[in-house]
Amino acid sequence: MKTERREMPRQLGGIAGLTIRVLYRSRLLAPLGRLARSVLAARRSVDIRELLGGALPRLISSMQPVEGLPSPETWVVAREAIGVSSLVVAPLGPPGAAPAAVVKLARSPEVVEELRAHVRAVQALSGDPRIGPWGRYLPDFLALGLTSEPAAVVERYMVGIPLTRMLRREPDLAARSISACLEVIGELHTRTASVVTTADHLAAWLDGPLAAVSSLYPAGAWQLSKLGCLGDELRQAVGINASTPASWIHGDYTRDNIFLSPDGGEVLGILDWGSARPVGVAAVDAYLLLLSSAAYRQRRALGHVVVDVARERGPSALDPLWASVEMLPSGRRALVLLTWLQHVAHNLAKAATYRDHLAWRALNIDVVLRKLVV
Ligand SMILES: Nc1ncnc2c1ncn2[C@@H]1O[C@H](COP(=O)(O)OP(=O)(O)O)[C@@H](O)[C@H]1O
Ligand SMILES: [Mg+2]
Repeated sequence: MKTERREMPRQLGGIAGLTIRVLYRSRLLAPLGRLARSVLAARRSVDIRELLGGALPRLISSMQPVEGLPSPETWVVAREAIGVSSLVVAPLGPPGAAPAAVVKLARSPEVVEELRAHVRAVQALSGDPRIGPWGRYLPDFLALGLTSEPAAVVERYMVGIPLTRMLRREPDLAARSISACLEVIGELHTRTASVVTTADHLAAWLDGPLAAVSSLYPAGAWQLSKLGCLGDELRQAVGINASTPASWIHGDYTRDNIFLSPDGGEVLGILDWGSARPVGVAAVDAYLLLLSSAAYRQRRALGHVVVDVARERGPSALDPLWASVEMLPSGRRALVLLTWLQHVAHNLAKAATYRDHLAWRALNIDVVLRKLVV
């Protein structure tokens, strides 16, 4: 998931700032934003067949037959792509039938790396004896083309309804769906749990993400001293010399990556493993799911929800769910901040455009540093 870009930067001034503030308060900003995004998406829309060129026949000829379906040689790729940014995803299957697969094509070096990481993580998990029947939630690759240009893979079509659609429904159904998601990811954490020495992993968990966010700012920027204080606080909270439970984590456990049964009671599959890692802080998956779901339901930027939850002013509709997630002995704040830090660092690694997106930075980074770090 990309961090929400929806909320107004408070420091916008002048006529433009006033107009945005009026639109925002009248709740017109979100629908107008959606309209603008769909117009832009249509203008950017691409014919994936053109982009794939000779890669599609190569991928298809390397595929094993799929039970109950005509030979993949007869399959066609839909012109209509699901994502038209740096990762293009398009349904693929027998002509006139429901899609049997998707083809995913990476168009930037960052996304090629992300797609490779996704494949590596899914393959490692599928081959991990601790996973057992949990493997049914993982994507299933039908063809891999990561070493040739353009980098692309074919994945079996994941059935189900994305959590995003469940979050638009009434609070009870949304909460039931999130609760199913928490339970399923909790099982992954339990199955792959180990105890590690914190110091061995601080570079990946904390120092790397801090360095990635710090690299946004010039020397002397106020954000740098706040990031320094945040690093000290989190180092102490996770305990430098401590042993700590760790496990495989998904790393981007958010609404578009989880597919559920129509009644929201059962998770059917989990996509997008490009941010996964074998030794992570398990609570980060649950925290990101709750923070990002609350942001989506409340139509607020993630940064503002992070501030509220860290101050224990939790999002009311999802309050009972927060009670079920792990806390550090030092309280909820440290895990909320660690989750937020890893998430924004992942976004920066995933798409170069975030670096220069001042509104995104204001809403998702500055607000947290200004309000939460003294
Ligand atoms: N195997 C799949 N089956 C069905 N839809 C898929 C599949 N893989 C991806 N998609 C669709 O494409 C979207 C983007 O793919 P994803 O791997 O999550 O990339 P990213 O979120 O990094 O752009 C998903 O949210 C989902 O709607
Ligand atoms: Mg995704």
